[in-house]
This record gives sequence, structure tokens and C-alpha cells, in this order.
Amino acid sequence: MNQSVPAEGTAAARASQRCAEPECGAQYRLDERLYVCPRCGGLLDVEIEREGLSRADELRAVWRARLSSFDARDHSGVWRYRELLPFDRDAPVVTLAEGNTPLYDAPRSARYCRLDALKLKHQGCNPTGSFKDTGMTTAVTQGLVLGVRTVVCASTGNTAASLAAYAARASLLCAILVPRGQVSHAKLAQSLDYGARVLELEGNFDDAMRAVRELAEDEAIYLVNSINPFRIEGQKTVAFELTEQLAWGVPDHVVVPGGNLGNSSALGKGFKELLDLGLIDRLPRLSVVQAEGAAPFARMFARGDRATPDEGLAPDEVLEDSFRPVERPQTLATAIKIGAPVSWKKALRAVRWTGGRVQSVSEQEIADAKAIIGRDGIGCEPASATTVAGIKRLVAGGFIRPDESVVAVLTGHVLKDADYVINYHRETLHTRDRSPDKTKEERRIKGTFANSPVRVKATRGAILEQLSRAGHEEFSAGGLDCVDEA
Ligand code: F0G
Repeated sequence: MNQSVPAEGTAAARASQRCAEPECGAQYRLDERLYVCPRCGGLLDVEIEREGLSRADELRAVWRARLSSFDARDHSGVWRYRELLPFDRDAPVVTLAEGNTPLYDAPRSARYCRLDALKLKHQGCNPTGSFKDTGMTTAVTQGLVLGVRTVVCASTGNTAASLAAYAARASLLCAILVPRGQVSHAKLAQSLDYGARVLELEGNFDDAMRAVRELAEDEAIYLVNSINPFRIEGQKTVAFELTEQLAWGVPDHVVVPGGNLGNSSALGKGFKELLDLGLIDRLPRLSVVQAEGAAPFARMFARGDRATPDEGLAPDEVLEDSFRPVERPQTLATAIKIGAPVSWKKALRAVRWTGGRVQSVSEQEIADAKAIIGRDGIGCEPASATTVAGIKRLVAGGFIRPDESVVAVLTGHVLKDADYVINYHRETLHTRDRSPDKTKEERRIKGTFANSPVRVKATRGAILEQLSRAGHEEFSAGGLDCVDEA
């Protein structure tokens, strides 16, 4: 190994926690168990000093060499970048070989969005089927560093499944708080199988989040929602991995779904660190997409834009004053059914650093975009499809040019919510908006790209007849006709 590469194990010594509120900025030791700044209540960042870190080309070489290593940490797309993580060499790493997710070309989705090309970074290909694993590996490891016995989270399902798995690996007690009846079967099944204590609460995710924050005041309990800055440290590595997959090139745009807004915060931090270290020479524009019925962050931007119509993005104070939680969030993309996102200030910082936008999209747009991603042979859960729906809007509105390079981050696997998929294709998917003036038919999501199963007699003739009909309808135009009509 190159002499100037620092001994592993120095990262923790050079790291601290710092309040993210610019006018506070209070600093705390790494081993203080904090979720917010004790002085002002602001969110916390982990900060690693650059002093003593290798040069950009040396870091790249070390990370690349680890791809052929047999060390378990090097099989992780998170721990491979450990020079930029706040842990010692002998940290008790809890890993399931997370990260290392594919970056796919998606020509049909690109055409749907009217883009020349579109890439999809599929974080649903993580061990528990969502991007949460990249942050859970670092948060649960920090739990062991601190010597905790019990880990908890509030969740719409994926954080829960991920925590349950990592807690099981670390032999920690695990309790998850989920809104009753609002979590997909697959996610609930995972948490049960991994042995977590599943507590189904009356109320929505925001109620569960409030409850879990009160619970975490107890010293014995460690909270690993994305308010925990060690979650963000793991999740930021997606920016590293994505950039490395592009041979350290930077796309013009990166687009992510927004729920509790930890992921957008993490990606922003990751790209900013790469820029500060000279590993990249510019930032991609980071844009966030929310579901219309659960879009407090997008609404804040819309209000801010109205406040300063001719000057582009409103100043921070105007935007921050315009933030209002949504009391009763509604969306079939249950992963992001969140009205009071904990990390909105960090996400705002990320969007501002990078010059991105925040967009909302309808239930119909999400469902159709999801089906198109499926037609690329990729598939994802509904929340992830907000990205492609959002990109289509951002192209139509002129924020993204057709020839720009764009990466959408898919956050969850298609099998996370099979009921949604089946209902869309059978044309029995309905929004849950119970307003009395809407009939069931008015609440139905149109199966624009529906591909419903066909009943057929078990005879050669009947089957062949069906196949030739399908061939005529579907394949005569290379299967892309549906995209062009959209
Ligand atoms: N996509 C999926 C599939 C998710 O599960 C989530 C969040 C998001 C996007 C939004 O990410 O919260 O960082 O803005 N799921 C959390 C959970 C809330 O409990 O699983 P975010």
C-alpha cells in the first residue's frame, strides 16, 4: 500500500459531531450518544477532518484495489470507502455485504421522460431490498461501539426490515414501531422473520416517529432513524459508489424520492465531500421528488418560488418560514407517506448546495412511471418511481435538458409491494382518499400500461391463439409503442 495512505483507524480520531445549524455549529465528541444538538435542538452532522487524508488519486487507487480483496469489509460498498467513515480500524463492523448496487441504462424510461439517456442506480438490490442497508450497517456498528443493547426505529417498513436484519446480525434486541395497517406485507414479513419485536401503532408514521424520539430519551435505547447522523454516514457512500461507477464522472442531475428526507441529505453530503476532497470537480444538481399527498418539502419550494417569482430560488429564510408539515399525508407509495420529515433542513441544504429542485407528482404519474421502469426489466417499489415521474416533469418544464446526463436513484425492490403491482395491472388500484365527493371509480388509478394476466384453457390451440394475439398487440412495434403514446 502507498506510504502516504493513512493507517486505517485514524478516521474516528479525526471525526466529531457538529450541529448543522449555521448559527450554532456546536461540536461534540463522537462517542456522545446524541440525536440532536443539546444546545439548540438542530440536526447533527458527522464531520471528518481532511488533514492527514490521502490525495484524491491515492484514495481512488486504494478503493479500487479493495474490489479484489477477500476482507469482508471490502465486500461492502459502504466499508470499502472507510477512510471517509468515522470509525476505528478495529470497529466491530456489522455488515451484510451491502452496497455494490448496479447502475443500469434504462432506454424505455429515458424515452418516456423524453431524455436521450437515463441511468437508474438500483438501491433496491441491497441485502434487505432497500437503500436503508447502506446506512444501517454504520448505525448498528456505532450502536456496538457505544455498547448499547437495544435498537429502535419508527418506520414505514423498509427501515424496519433493514434494522431487524442488522440487529439480528449484531445480536442486539430490536423494536420497530410501524403505523398499523400501513406497511406492505413484504416489509412486515421481513421484520418478523429477522426476529424484531414489531409494535403496530395507531396513527401514522409521524406519530410513530414522535413516539420513538420520546423513547430514545431512555439511555438504554439507541435510535437509528435517519436523524441519527451515523445512518447518514453510511448512506452518503452511494454518492461515492455512483461516481466511481461513472469513472469519477459527475452526472448533470441526480434525482431521489423524498420521504423523511434522510436520503437526499446523505447524497448531498456525499457529493459535497467528494468535491471538497478533489475527487470530483463539480456537483450534480440533486433534485427531490415527493408524492403529491405527502409533499411538505415540495410545497415549501412552491411557496418560496411564489414569494420571489423573478429571482430563482428563494432565500433560506423565506423557504424555512414556508415549511409546514402535512397533517394527514396520503399516498399509495406507503414508503414515503410522511407529513413531517425530520431531515428537511439538511435536505434543503443539499438542494441548495447543488442547485436542484423539489417536485411533486400525482398517484397516477407514480403508477405509470413504475410500470415503465418495469418494462426496462428493472422494477422498483412505488416510492422509487416518483423519480422517473419527476424527471418527466422536470424535462417538460425545461429544468432538465434532453441531452443532459441523469441518474435516478431507485430506493426499493419491486417485490416490496407486490399488492400494488398486481392491482395496477388488474386495474383495481384505488387511492385511499376517502373524500365523500369522490366515487370509487374516480379514485381508481388508470392502468395506462396495464399487463393483466389472461385466463386460457390448457390446450395448445387456445394458448397459441393467445400468444399470437399478444404478439400482435404488444410486440409489433418493438414493445415501445406504449411509451411513445404516453
Ligand atoms: N424510498 C423508499 C423505498 C423508502 O422506504 C423511503 C423511506 C424513501 C424512499 C424515502 O427516503 O425517508 O430518506 O427521504 N422509508 C422510511 C422507512 C421512512 O421507514 O422505511 P427518505
